[in-house]
Amino acid sequence: MSSSVQRELATVEVEGVSVSYDGAARAVDDVSVSVAAGSIVSLLGPSGCGKTSLLRAIAGLERPMGGSISIGGRVVSGPAAWVKPEHRSVGMVFQDGALFPHLTVAQNVEFGLNASHIKAGRSERANRVGELLELVDLAGLGARLPETLSGGQQQRVALARSLAPNPSVLLLDEPFSALDAGLRIHVRAEVARILREIGVTSIFVTHDQDEAFVLGDQVAVMRDGRVEQFGAPDELYRTPVSKWVARFVGEANFVPGRPSGEVGRVDTTLGSVAISGNALTERSGESIDVLVRPEQVTLSAGDTAEITAVEYYGHDVRYELLLADGTTLSARTHPDVLRQRGDRVAIAFDGSTSTAFVD
Ligand SMILES: Nc1ncnc2c1ncn2[C@@H]1O[C@H](COP(=O)(O)OP(=O)(O)O)[C@@H](O)[C@H]1O
Ligand SMILES: [Mg+2]
Repeated sequence: MSSSVQRELATVEVEGVSVSYDGAARAVDDVSVSVAAGSIVSLLGPSGCGKTSLLRAIAGLERPMGGSISIGGRVVSGPAAWVKPEHRSVGMVFQDGALFPHLTVAQNVEFGLNASHIKAGRSERANRVGELLELVDLAGLGARLPETLSGGQQQRVALARSLAPNPSVLLLDEPFSALDAGLRIHVRAEVARILREIGVTSIFVTHDQDEAFVLGDQVAVMRDGRVEQFGAPDELYRTPVSKWVARFVGEANFVPGRPSGEVGRVDTTLGSVAISGNALTERSGESIDVLVRPEQVTLSAGDTAEITAVEYYGHDVRYELLLADGTTLSARTHPDVLRQRGDRVAIAFDGSTSTAFVD
């Protein structure tokens, strides 16, 4: 964006926030999340886990029953503070875009401009709208009505409108879920580019793991109103804190294991596996489940497992395997060697480390 736009980089600190609609059940339950200035945090979780409620609390559209929220170092919500939504310097983008159907694209964007732009006069406003349409790659479409645009273009108009007042923080609530699959991937890449280009602190809500990982520098995995884990995507994928998180952020096999006698290693049907980052070895003797991602399973000539299903994707192949002890396992491998249902294979763990869970 043009250098004339001075964006104030703001951190968002959410501390112990709870939201309840009936004073009893908590839609958001004691949540703490810290969003670094200029970064993107994804809130990821199943439907009903409290993502929208948390976002609305940050925007000032819901009043938390407890906890505090600060934006750019200023407490906007807390026991002794309440800043109205319009004074929080927060922009929002919703799932359906919520454009005014009877206004042109340019008028929709202009609607987002704040009081200082409006005072600045007509040509200043037109420049600012043009700049925003250029940012979202829609220059030249200002005179069109929203209904003449594709779903992805409409979402970019909504984004331009929410960026118009130059907010310090942008909140996006499932902005791609109304788009069909192919378009969604394209639009999310475009939105990621725009958010990174302008460097606005952003909180992005989704129930889709791919989206959360691709857009978020950090991801907060939410469950039943709480943050179950907060971390970078690769941290969540490789060292989930619970089996639930492991399953929510990808496909997970849990393979039974027993301590190998060597500190930090576990013996499994896939061989010896190094375990990272937990207190597992101090609790030997209990039942241990080792997280094995499908792409960590390698297949070779042998007779330990039978292939019971084959899914060919082109970039890889997913197999379902039945082991002699009756357990099942999924594997994803390179498609060069394509195996058939009914083939028998040997299986091994191919990875540097894994994570183990002691029940
Ligand atoms: N306006 C509301 N009134 C009463 N309950 C609500 C309201 N909005 C959400 N809830 C409830 O709060 C919980 C969290 O909802 P929500 O924040 O919308 O979750 P998500 O966005 O993750 O799907 C759900 O149990 C939902 O039914
Ligand atoms: Mg929601």
